[in-house]
Amino acid sequence: MSNKRSLRQKYSRIAKGGVDVRSTANDRQFDGDEPICNRSDNPFFSSILSTRLQRRQVLRGTLAAAVTTMFAGPVLDGLKARPANASSPMLGFKAVPVSEADAIVVPEGYTARILMPWGEPISGSFPSFSLENTGADQEMQVGQHHDGMHFFPIEGNSPYEGSSEDGLLVMNHEYVEPRYMHASAIGQTFDSGGYPTKEDGTRETDQVLKEMNAHGVSIARVSRQADGSWSVVRDERNRRVTALTPMEIQGPVRGSDLVKTLYSPDGTRTRGTINNCAHGVTPWNTYLAAEENWAGYFRNADATLPREHDRYGVSTEGTRYGWDLADSGADEYTRFDASSKAGSPTEDYRNEPNAFGWVVEIDPFNPGSTPVKHTALGRFAHEGVVFQPPVEGQPIVCYSGDDARFEYIYKFVSAQPYSQATASGALLDEGTLYVAQFNDDGTGQWIALTFGENGLTPENGFQDQADILVNTRTAADFVGATKMDRPEWGAVDSRTGAVYFTLTNNSRREPEQVDAVNPRPANQWGQIVRWNESGSNPTAMSFEWDLFVLAGPENDSRKLSGEPLNADSLFVNPDGLWFDADSRLWIQTDIGEDSQNTGDFAQFGNNQMLAADPNTGEIRRFLAGPIGQEITGVITTPDQRTMFINVQHPGATTTEEEFATGNFKSRWPDQNPAMNPRSATVVITKDDGGIIGT
Ligand code: FEO
Ligand code: CA
Ligand code: CA
Ligand code: CA
Repeated sequence: MSNKRSLRQKYSRIAKGGVDVRSTANDRQFDGDEPICNRSDNPFFSSILSTRLQRRQVLRGTLAAAVTTMFAGPVLDGLKARPANASSPMLGFKAVPVSEADAIVVPEGYTARILMPWGEPISGSFPSFSLENTGADQEMQVGQHHDGMHFFPIEGNSPYEGSSEDGLLVMNHEYVEPRYMHASAIGQTFDSGGYPTKEDGTRETDQVLKEMNAHGVSIARVSRQADGSWSVVRDERNRRVTALTPMEIQGPVRGSDLVKTLYSPDGTRTRGTINNCAHGVTPWNTYLAAEENWAGYFRNADATLPREHDRYGVSTEGTRYGWDLADSGADEYTRFDASSKAGSPTEDYRNEPNAFGWVVEIDPFNPGSTPVKHTALGRFAHEGVVFQPPVEGQPIVCYSGDDARFEYIYKFVSAQPYSQATASGALLDEGTLYVAQFNDDGTGQWIALTFGENGLTPENGFQDQADILVNTRTAADFVGATKMDRPEWGAVDSRTGAVYFTLTNNSRREPEQVDAVNPRPANQWGQIVRWNESGSNPTAMSFEWDLFVLAGPENDSRKLSGEPLNADSLFVNPDGLWFDADSRLWIQTDIGEDSQNTGDFAQFGNNQMLAADPNTGEIRRFLAGPIGQEITGVITTPDQRTMFINVQHPGATTTEEEFATGNFKSRWPDQNPAMNPRSATVVITKDDGGIIGT
């Protein structure tokens, strides 16, 4: 085995404003799973005047007051801050301190237990976990690197109503850390993106299969035990969806020339889903897995890359894990090399990357169902999907962020009205995709990405709706969408219809590129934006927005009250976001592994989860996680008395030297020197049996 360094250290060339910039270590293609930036050169819309104003405000430290004043309007009256220091009736727990321990820390009166770590058997022959597990074993086990997640009550009628003791836990597995997956990697020198290769440069096929089967989605029935712990139940619905599972392509791109391949000459099918970050839950009780940083898994060595590859960051040189190098040469692996190799697109895999970057629907209650890629929702680095509460007779409305630097926030409105009796995934196959433009005065509008509208015409390079959707980013560039600081999760407050999105950071934003919604240059810390649709109508073409919180240290942060964050609430890099049934807003953080516990980031400790009151803006730290991980994924049972969260990539901060010598920074959750760190779900209960957060 030779030591193959991760590709992220090789392919780090980016371009901004048409100027190529050689990147630094902090802007490598991936930091764990953090993305490359927008390489397009569409203009920024903030005016010079506004930019200067914002810069002065930042320098004076009065950004908070300015933002609050700017956006106080009638639509936001219901969201106004309470007086400073008012204690929220929503948040009943005592804040936990920041932590650098290799442990889960929860408030007094709460208990945290482990469920479904990577490798736990859930289906088939239930192969027990071992580093020696094969690729075939992995297909019957929980995948690696847990992310977005939902608990579906076992009755199967409603995503939020039913049993609180028995259900299907469905979760994404975003990516893998091969060094912790393969027994042969132990003792070798690997960083978090490294993977073993053979002397001839190929990869052992079974290792590739294992990595592909550790991606995708896990579906497992789980039930509550008498002591409050939960365990996996053997059930015919337990299932793994992986990077190899056959899937249907639906919506306007189905049958398009852009998705025709050797595997699917008619452009209707593909294999697998990858890099599933956050998720979505449809009103008709199915699960959506969003495909985020899929582009790095492909390469295209052609002299010129089509925009549907180039605009998404497909590399000319190599793939993230070298799956295309599997020594069997079988086409389920070689398809990740999208170079033109034969005479036509239906004889090779030049279009394979176009079958990724979508939202995938899975029916967890039908284990024989074929997952569906819904192309009407657009193709980008989908972080996740959040829905407005459905209204009988009205269109379905959902939102999705494109998590890369300077990318956009989108809204989809179905063409057909919602009817509880007949609702299905077909609602997601016909409708209008909009992209957001945030004005500096606190208003904003949705711009339709519809063929023939807003200049999206053949004269401007858009041939039809399928072309627009495969090239969603290019279409959004063209119509002048607002370039955001990496949109991550969204959440909708079902009581008010207000939509919240985390904007996790953007170290590349220059001072002349700031605007009111992305107000800080070299934004290390991130913020949370929220908006109300005009007239409280989810299908409205305009909205009013404000910033719920500017994350950061005490001297560079602002809560809704205008006060800075304090010892009980300091956090940065918001990522996961979810409203519980009481409108408590849960915020999860993802400080990148290059930054965690170092320099200016050290004061925030390990990644954490906080709860916020959307009315007062009060924020309080509820949980701190172990070393090297991010906290992501959160859901409660319908009675709100059991909460599930995920811990992803513990130990990822282990350096290659530490890995080689076995000095892993984390051994969570097993805390056994013979066990590698493992992503896992954490089950949180209140010792008095009460509602989580109260
Ligand atoms: Fe996979 Fe954007 O976090
Ligand atoms: Ca991450
Ligand atoms: Ca995320
Ligand atoms: Ca993130």
